[in-house]
Amino acid sequence: MNIKIEKLIKPHLLKMKVYEPVDPPEVLAQKSGIKKENILKLNGNENPYGGSEKAIKALENAPLHIYPDPLQRKIRNSLSKYTNMPTENIIAGAGSDELIDLIFRLFISYGDNIIDFEPTFAMYGFCARIAGASIINVPRDKNFEIDIKALENKINDNTKIIFVSSPNNPTGNICSKDQVLRLLQTGKLVVIDEAYYEFSGHTVAELVKEHENLIVLRTLSKWAGLAGLRIGYALANPILINHIIDIKSPYNVNIAAEVALLASLDDCDNLIKNVELIINERNRMFNILQKINNIKPFPSYGNYILCELDEGKAKIIVDQLANNGIFVRYFNTNRLKNFFRIAIGTPSQTDILIKYIEKFLNKL
Ligand SMILES: Cc1ncc(COP(=O)(O)O)c(C=O)c1O
Repeated sequence: MNIKIEKLIKPHLLKMKVYEPVDPPEVLAQKSGIKKENILKLNGNENPYGGSEKAIKALENAPLHIYPDPLQRKIRNSLSKYTNMPTENIIAGAGSDELIDLIFRLFISYGDNIIDFEPTFAMYGFCARIAGASIINVPRDKNFEIDIKALENKINDNTKIIFVSSPNNPTGNICSKDQVLRLLQTGKLVVIDEAYYEFSGHTVAELVKEHENLIVLRTLSKWAGLAGLRIGYALANPILINHIIDIKSPYNVNIAAEVALLASLDDCDNLIKNVELIINERNRMFNILQKINNIKPFPSYGNYILCELDEGKAKIIVDQLANNGIFVRYFNTNRLKNFFRIAIGTPSQTDILIKYIEKFLNKL
């Protein structure tokens, strides 16, 4: 029987513009022909120092045969101490990516729209496309600041959510508290994605208590080096948190992620020392890049730096770096076609990267 199975798939999902994820090291090694141990993976904003040793040790005894707690009691207690927020204001997800998806499930019906301040993290647009929502793009200005006046003109009755990444991935700048307060006055749901909070030191989490239309997202992928385990969390009004609990899959955060989160938060001081190393390295790399001709780094509050090159050169440099086993992030969009983003690695990784960037720029 010839069923033509695609006829049964939701029509708007048949031709998806997909999210472009980063490849794992072994695939990068294969693509570049460089040994896996010699690859410089600076394309995923991952932590070059890895996870906490205490977390790695704790994983040895994780009770893998037992389902995790659906109400995440230990996780939420531990995050409550870390964030200084009551447990009822907290819910964890399999990465903040899962929480973004859950927010769409909770708020978005087919035909609704969301506000995206591009260029920004591609996940908001991706989830909107899956949900059948349209994306109202309010382009950032030349310094990548959000334009709230333009937003106020574009917003309409079908607008449900305003997404802001702060610091913004990939541009590195933050959204001020005043700007967030103006966004909250629209009465729409405002999601402030603070995935890089530990590197920026800026948060609007305290506003969650007074504003029921605010969700702050955080993750342990970056500062705590747990990207591979998928663990993030949301801070919001208990009403919203309970609705998220109602619709999430019961065991959404796995036992290994739970065990690693608890141990990581116990080992917070050591992890924050690594964050300080990364911040120092970010500042050092920024200063070096600033002195190189024909490349313009943008100041960053994250663990990455966005760089602008002359017309047509960014992709060439990105490809040349990749051929030598050095991977930075290129964005194939009109606005960012002359840019690439470098994740901050160790000092010796920076030195190698800079040597190659200078060499290739000189030859162009
Ligand atoms: C702004 C932003 N939000 C969320 C995420 C996803 O984080 P997680 O690994 O917790 O899903 C990322 C990852 O790069 C990010 O840059």
